[in-house]
Amino acid sequence: MTLPDRESVSRRTYLKTAVAVGGSVGLTACVGELTTTEPQPDGETDTQRVPTGDRDSLPDRQHAWNGYLSQDAHGNYEPPAHHVLRYLSIADSVALDSAREQFETALTDLESAFAWSSDGLLFTVGYSPRYFTQFDEQPALPESVEFPEPTALTDLESPTFDTYELVVHFASDRPDALLAAEEALFGSQETVNGREITAISDLFDEAESDRRTGFVGAGLPAENQDVEGIPSGNPVPEDAPLFMGFRSGFERTQATEDRVTIEAGPFAGGTTQHISKLQLQLNAWWNQENHFQRVAKMFSPRHAAEERVGDVGEKLTTDSGLTTEDISDLLKQARDDGVVGHAQKTARAREDGRPVILRRDFDTTDDDHAGLHFVSLQRSISDFGKTRAAMTGTDIADESGIGPRVNNGIMQYIFVRNRGNFLIPPRPHRSFPTANPEANET
Ligand code: HEM
Repeated sequence: MTLPDRESVSRRTYLKTAVAVGGSVGLTACVGELTTTEPQPDGETDTQRVPTGDRDSLPDRQHAWNGYLSQDAHGNYEPPAHHVLRYLSIADSVALDSAREQFETALTDLESAFAWSSDGLLFTVGYSPRYFTQFDEQPALPESVEFPEPTALTDLESPTFDTYELVVHFASDRPDALLAAEEALFGSQETVNGREITAISDLFDEAESDRRTGFVGAGLPAENQDVEGIPSGNPVPEDAPLFMGFRSGFERTQATEDRVTIEAGPFAGGTTQHISKLQLQLNAWWNQENHFQRVAKMFSPRHAAEERVGDVGEKLTTDSGLTTEDISDLLKQARDDGVVGHAQKTARAREDGRPVILRRDFDTTDDDHAGLHFVSLQRSISDFGKTRAAMTGTDIADESGIGPRVNNGIMQYIFVRNRGNFLIPPRPHRSFPTANPEANET
């Protein structure tokens, strides 16, 4: 991906593309865009300085982001606008015991350089099952952690499995903070936001790495819809936060951070992470379906008939407006209407009235194709599997006769390209943990 001509795109598109391009080129473009020439009282020229952090005040849970995000008028948490997933594998020459301190120092440097918030920098470090195979302990991981190798979850997919050893998920409303953090860790920038950062590129094998990027929030999908998978004519509404056009992730249709946290054992305070790369094919979604059909497929047929949603979900407040009947009468609705909604179907996996996974997904134009990086946190990977099975809805499709893809929620439009499972340890064990960190410390 290359940077567009500055004059040909909006500022937000330019900044989003700078994140996708990354490296020193992306960072320079970003800083140039966000820096004004007007001198400030203290002589600085950056009018929007990124707040610095107080690393001693941070929670043990790496995934404790909610308390540091902005909230909308209804109290829903607003995800950071820009995201980067850095997939990494440790270089063969690196000894974990000696590299651990270097990695941890780099991460704490970042926490001092940037506030732990949307207008600073949020990140998690997660490790794959493959990472833990290097330890001799039997069993390899304590039984309190359930996170197997990724598998195909439906007959409709044959994904590539991400077996990188770790993944760092960076998120911020500030593309310059995000890119500067990456450049300091993996590139040649020594100081960011007034703090020196320990570099860590020597710890990783560049050939075994990947970088995926994306964005979420009203306006960003519309501004970035000129890609494969979205038909011409700019169909994505101006204020849609995602390419499929609707708001998602309401306060009450997300698991709480408590619900997704591992409760016992050495990784207590951690969580598991599933990341899938979904390609979106939205030609029929935008060209053949009308708004009524899109609402029926995304939410439920009753949502469409009763106009519960609005253009992009603006009629909804703290949840998706599903009634108990929308969930319990699913099969009847599917038979009567010949269509079943994504939210309605997936809600069958709720426990105590709430989902068991916490979604932190975002759109992407990686590979110049519309897509969505589905990042999900849950106490155990089986919580994800159960929820995904409810979404796939093979039982409903079979029993109602609607078929596996067409009219079965949004199954027709999403194609799973990659899947990966990771363990996000609590902060004290986030740097190259052994399979049983507390046991090893004694
Ligand atoms: C392009 C992909 C996707 C889009 C655009 C999308 C969008 C949405 C929307 C608009 C809702 C209703 C609003 C809300 O409650 O958040 C929803 C609900 C939900 N989605 Fe998705 N979704 C996608 C993929 C997935 C996947 C892969 C999963 C994995 C299982 C998933 C799990 C859920 C869950 C758990 C809910 C809440 C259900 C409940 O209310 O209990 N979604 N999604």
